[in-house]
Amino acid sequence: MKVVIASDHGGYQLANEIEVFLTELGVNVEHIGSKCADSVDYSDYGIPAAEKVAQGEYDRGIVICGTGVGMSIAANKVRGIRCALVHDVYTARVTREHNNSNMLAMGARVIGVDLAKEIVKTWMGGKFEGGRHARRIEKVAEYEEKLSK
Ligand code: RB5
Repeated sequence: MKVVIASDHGGYQLANEIEVFLTELGVNVEHIGSKCADSVDYSDYGIPAAEKVAQGEYDRGIVICGTGVGMSIAANKVRGIRCALVHDVYTARVTREHNNSNMLAMGARVIGVDLAKEIVKTWMGGKFEGGRHARRIEKVAEYEEKLSK
């Protein structure tokens, strides 16, 4: 499992923590930035991360900004990306089971480090259930396909 992490100035500290956490769990992680407190635009990091997941360079992506909202909006503009904005463990599990989310967004100004680690661990371990959920995802993918023509 290869995971790409992206963050802005609002999320880089949590992103650094998550990078270390996943590495300790044996996951192959790359944090593509930003990695400092200088003000940057979340779109400059979130979109490239989403493209890397959409193109298959990474299996999953984790994007972190102040609220998680900007990063999730940016990532979800990339075709094939299903980015879930998550701040609780229940949603972390169910978004894998029902939405087959391939990216996770979190807000570093919304939740603490320990909860974020729980969310990441749960989301990484969650399994897509398929069935009716696959049909629903397919409808979204068909719409995305139509827009790209
Ligand atoms: C940066 O101040 C902040 O707007 C950003 O991190 C994020 O919360 C945007 O959605």
